[in-house]
Amino acid sequence: MNTTTRQAVGRPSDAQLRDAIDGHLRTIANTVRHQQLQEAVTHAALQGGKRIRPLLALRCCALAGSDPMVALPAGCGFELIHAFSLVHDDLPALDDDEMRRGLPTVHKAFGESIGILCGDLLQSLAFETIASSPHPMEVLLELSRATNAMIEGQAWDTDGGFPEGLDEAERLELIHRNKTGALIRGAARAGAIAGGADDSTLDCVDRWSSAVGLMFQVVDDLLDETQSSEHLGKAAGKDREAGKLTFPGVHGLEGARKTVIRLEDVANEALAGFSEVAAPLRDLTHDLAKRTR
Ligand code: IPE
Ligand code: IPE
Ligand code: MG
Ligand code: MG
Ligand code: MG
Repeated sequence: MNTTTRQAVGRPSDAQLRDAIDGHLRTIANTVRHQQLQEAVTHAALQGGKRIRPLLALRCCALAGSDPMVALPAGCGFELIHAFSLVHDDLPALDDDEMRRGLPTVHKAFGESIGILCGDLLQSLAFETIASSPHPMEVLLELSRATNAMIEGQAWDTDGGFPEGLDEAERLELIHRNKTGALIRGAARAGAIAGGADDSTLDCVDRWSSAVGLMFQVVDDLLDETQSSEHLGKAAGKDREAGKLTFPGVHGLEGARKTVIRLEDVANEALAGFSEVAAPLRDLTHDLAKRTR
């Protein structure tokens, strides 16, 4: 059964949720008075992108029994941090990339100073945004901790400096769980918290999103090795060239693919106690395991 036929009556579609997310992001971008910065923020947050983090925040909010729109501030806060992470990830000092979502990266389009400042601004806009969420203090903690973890993950990815005693596979997992997993897990938890999740629901969301967060970066590593730049809208084959620690690099293509299957199972297991209400998260798990861009 595909996603459309499984769609429960009255449940908003992913497209409807994405429209609401984009509307909220546009309102936030329009508050920026400096014209070039406003254009850069719009470029970074609204020109393309899959909106996975806010989407899963809204779906986790619904899993907790609330209207998914209740999680719009929390979900958009995480999307703004995600956009910030990409703008800085692409800078010459980090991955030095010229294309993102099929367009020039922010520093290529607007120059390096606006690129740096745009990332800075996306971060503070994220914190401003979540102030209007239900349970703001709890959501604030999720957003700050996930952002801290993302930045540490980027530092391990870019500059090493690992804790003592980790072998290569453990270093790889440390990078991936932090640079990418943390924002996905934080967005899911924050969405559930905004929706008033009880402890047992939050525990399931935590287990689901920890698995999906790691899986997301394993798939990103696989796509970097197996897809073209045209298809991805960003430079492919860069990880090997830059000597990055990746799942295909450490475990081989087959090892990485098996890891995706294992993590998809772990994610589905976390949702086993839920009925139809978890269908959108099951669909999302499947789509993220099978995505090609
Ligand atoms: C790309 O994330 C960076 C990673 C964390 C792997 P996405 O694949 O979610 O990027 P967009 O937002 O859809 O462009
Ligand atoms: C992205 O990892 C992680 C963050 C941006 C935090 P990558 O460097 O692999 O992401 P892409 O491939 O450039 O999107
Ligand atoms: Mg990177
Ligand atoms: Mg990169
Ligand atoms: Mg990548």
